[in-house]
Amino acid sequence: MNKKWWHQSTVYQIYPRSFNDHDGDGIGDIPGIIEKLDYLAFLGIDIIWLSPVYQSPNDDNGYDISDYYEIMSDFGTMEDMDRLIEEARKRDIHIMMDLVINHTSDEHRWFIESRKSKDNPYRDYYVWRESSDGPPSDITSVFSGPAWEYDEETGEYYFHLFSKKQPDLNLHNKEVRKHLYTMMNFWLEKGVSGFRMDVIDLIGKEIDENILTDGPNLHDYLQEMNREVLSTYPTITVGETPSATPETAKLYTGEGRDELDMVFTFQHMSLDERAGKGKWALKPLDLIDLKQTLSKWQTELHGQGWNSLYWNNHDQPRIVSRWGNEGEYRVESAKMLATLLHMMQGTPYIYQGEEIGMINIVFDDIRDYRDIETINYYNEKISEGVPHADIMKSIHVKGRDNARTPFQWDSNLHGGFTTGTPWLEVNGNYKNINAEDAVKNEESIFYHYKKLIQLRKEHDIIVYGEYELILEDHPEIFAYTRKSGNEILLVIANFNEHEPAFTLPSGFDDKDCEILISNYRGTAHPSELKKLRPYEAVVYLIQSENTSNSFQ
Ligand code: NOJ
Repeated sequence: MNKKWWHQSTVYQIYPRSFNDHDGDGIGDIPGIIEKLDYLAFLGIDIIWLSPVYQSPNDDNGYDISDYYEIMSDFGTMEDMDRLIEEARKRDIHIMMDLVINHTSDEHRWFIESRKSKDNPYRDYYVWRESSDGPPSDITSVFSGPAWEYDEETGEYYFHLFSKKQPDLNLHNKEVRKHLYTMMNFWLEKGVSGFRMDVIDLIGKEIDENILTDGPNLHDYLQEMNREVLSTYPTITVGETPSATPETAKLYTGEGRDELDMVFTFQHMSLDERAGKGKWALKPLDLIDLKQTLSKWQTELHGQGWNSLYWNNHDQPRIVSRWGNEGEYRVESAKMLATLLHMMQGTPYIYQGEEIGMINIVFDDIRDYRDIETINYYNEKISEGVPHADIMKSIHVKGRDNARTPFQWDSNLHGGFTTGTPWLEVNGNYKNINAEDAVKNEESIFYHYKKLIQLRKEHDIIVYGEYELILEDHPEIFAYTRKSGNEILLVIANFNEHEPAFTLPSGFDDKDCEILISNYRGTAHPSELKKLRPYEAVVYLIQSENTSNSFQ
């Protein structure tokens, strides 16, 4: 495999609205990000993925873009953006823009034109269909209700897989694609280093055949984009691909395919949902499912593509609350989850606040929530007669505002996020969980992440070693090895508060063994471990001539 600079890198996602508010209007902004670049440089990250900062009416917090060439006024100006790119560069930090090209806002100039008349030159930029008896098909929107909206003006329906204010672009139109490439070049020319591509698996959709993801032209379009834009700069790209399997991930990221650098899998993110029932239908996680899913991606993409590694983003609940322990073992479990993920092959993504172990929010009143998906879901279920308490149960566990509460910087009012009134309430635990305390305490989750980021740069085995799952059927321990030459990386993580026994297979040679990182003091060498403490995680680097050193 050809080595790439970003193979050793760690990405940090900023959700600007909730990161740091400089001007006191209660909304995070670009000058606020600039103020915190030193914090990020100290953490050691290499790349920032910036959620959308383009002009937007904010129906979906910036994922509804009305002008790709302007900065949202809540966030600042184009001068602020230029300064961010420049200040980041001074600290060797790259910026990846969020690229939302499956849809625009209905307030984008193209859509305003498109809806005017059937023969408007922009008509075909979007997906319009006529139908005399209700929506042209029964596809539903991700944000509840039908995905078709009737427009009085011309008596036709337009397609929107997300909100009504997010009409889908028609990427089959060559002119649309050309405009998008020009826009991407504009940003690369400004000095950003690449793109995180929003729901990119949808851009080849064939609506009349009910094909949404993985349409027949999807990979042709990505290859065209690569030729026209990506290959002309040293870019880094990641596709958001909810439908991806390891098989299709090889198509997106395989060497010589000239498409994307990596994709986000969603397969591990749906393991706590009842199959086929959608994100709100809760089910406890079975650790065996998680092991099988992550391991499948590790082994199948090895040498044939590249993984991205993540637990969190602005759409997912906080991982400590989700699969860790947000109470007594918050610190231990946050470190365990981080260790488990960061020792895998791929590029790790940290979502803002993950590095200090921020947890989910619980509001009892729907009026405290801001997320359109959550609010639409609530209203739909209420109208179906589902009791408030049942709906809130799902929202507390899965709602996107869990990730979006403002960053907790210190113990001042509103966690130091703003001097104004925050657009979404800050989690009330900010006095106990905040970055200032974390940076002062060398045993904090923050320093654990810092060390994981560093280890990836120091040990090639973390970047390229071959993965093997061990103790496959163990219900509580997630353990694996990575192998490269005479080196073995042994990663052992206890996924709950019990203290399961651990025994090394007899004959396993661990004489020359170093502990790279652990979340408890006084961790024993593998052959002396016996049992694991609650949420204990440890990584050993073993040098061994003994090639039969194996768990199988
Ligand atoms: C995925 C984004 O991550 C999410 O926040 C957004 O609502 C949808 N795509 C639509 O753009």
